Amino acid sequence: MDPLQDARPLEGRHILLGITGSIAAYKSALLCRLLKTAGADVRVVMTPLAKQFITPLTMATLSKNPILVEFFDPENGAWNSHVSLGEWADCCLIAPATANTLAKMAAGIADNLLLTTYLSARCPVVVAPAMDLDMYAHAATQENLARLAGRGVQIVEPAEGELASGLRGKGRMAEPDEIAAFVGRLLDEEKKKPLAGRRFVVTAGATIEPIDPVRFISNHSSGKMGYAIAGELARRGADVVLVSGRTALDTPEGVRRVDVLSADEMYTAAVEAFREADGAVMCAAVADYTPVAVADRKITKGDGEMTLTLRRTRDIAAELGADKRGRLLVGFALETHDEEAHAEAKLAKKHFDFIVLNSLRDAGAGFRGDTNKVTFIDAAGREPLPLMSKRDVAARIADKIESLLK
Ligand code: C5P
Repeated sequence: MDPLQDARPLEGRHILLGITGSIAAYKSALLCRLLKTAGADVRVVMTPLAKQFITPLTMATLSKNPILVEFFDPENGAWNSHVSLGEWADCCLIAPATANTLAKMAAGIADNLLLTTYLSARCPVVVAPAMDLDMYAHAATQENLARLAGRGVQIVEPAEGELASGLRGKGRMAEPDEIAAFVGRLLDEEKKKPLAGRRFVVTAGATIEPIDPVRFISNHSSGKMGYAIAGELARRGADVVLVSGRTALDTPEGVRRVDVLSADEMYTAAVEAFREADGAVMCAAVADYTPVAVADRKITKGDGEMTLTLRRTRDIAAELGADKRGRLLVGFALETHDEEAHAEAKLAKKHFDFIVLNSLRDAGAGFRGDTNKVTFIDAAGREPLPLMSKRDVAARIADKIESLLK
């Protein structure tokens, strides 16, 4: 072990330190110093109120970088780009995080530079809450923290102790050395994540094609397989956008979900997300046909037959395949007969790197269940896998994606 190296565990890491308006902001100075001593490059974004608690001069001196508060510099109009800050950061650390900022983060409010940066950040986000005990214990704050945790935000729990109000209880921001150590451990873990820095689009679930305000055409897809894949890629460090048709499932941790209804909506969302992506896994059961016209009132039934005229939807996978530019594309095929031949034809037609074939003839495969039996098909051949849980299938798919990216 290199003792010098160990003394600077954050060497070369970019930490965006967000400071909000809490009395605990005085501890941010020490936190900034600890991060710098550990080797990190620190840039500080303060909310306007935070400046009342600690001066920008103090933080600029300690971080050795200008402090950012406003969206632009009123003197010269220079724009402080939240997007480039979000991209620069390896970790966005908000310490102290007030109840107000946590609530805005949970609601997606973007009325200051710190919040817009948070919303643009692709890196891990850590918050160290600081507030009075009753504010911390309030159901609103606890719900906001739970929502943020559900989206992958890491929370350094506040400690019990004396508070600025004179009361004693839980709400005191964790000590700077504890927060710095937390960030160190987190970035260490991130380094070990094989898909860190990769961006993926996953489509999942069934689309819904409206006939009139009451009826629609859809299919039996539950979305379970696609959700398992999105969750697995995110666990391995990837930035995942899950374009989801109708499902009853919870969003996997750390995944950004975009809900859509129809095949047309899924097309638009997937094409948009793929622009920035390194690859896509097309797991959705997309309607191949949709009604030519959607009645704006409920269609009244008659005695005779009725005919619906359908038009073809666009093939999302084929469209992404046409704009592939060396990126990875994984497809699915659900077949009932001539399975391998059909899947091989789709592999070539849609420019998939590999296709995951499941046959409705196999017990335990396909819709709704928690298991699947699949065969991987690529240009090199066929690899049948045994029956396993959809989570294990997702892990095997992620393994194959990793090996193709190497
Ligand atoms: O041609 P088929 O529908 O069987 O192809 C299945 C594959 O293509 C799946 O990966 C599915 O998600 C994708 N697909 C699509 N858009 C469509 C139809 C299928 O992305 N309109």
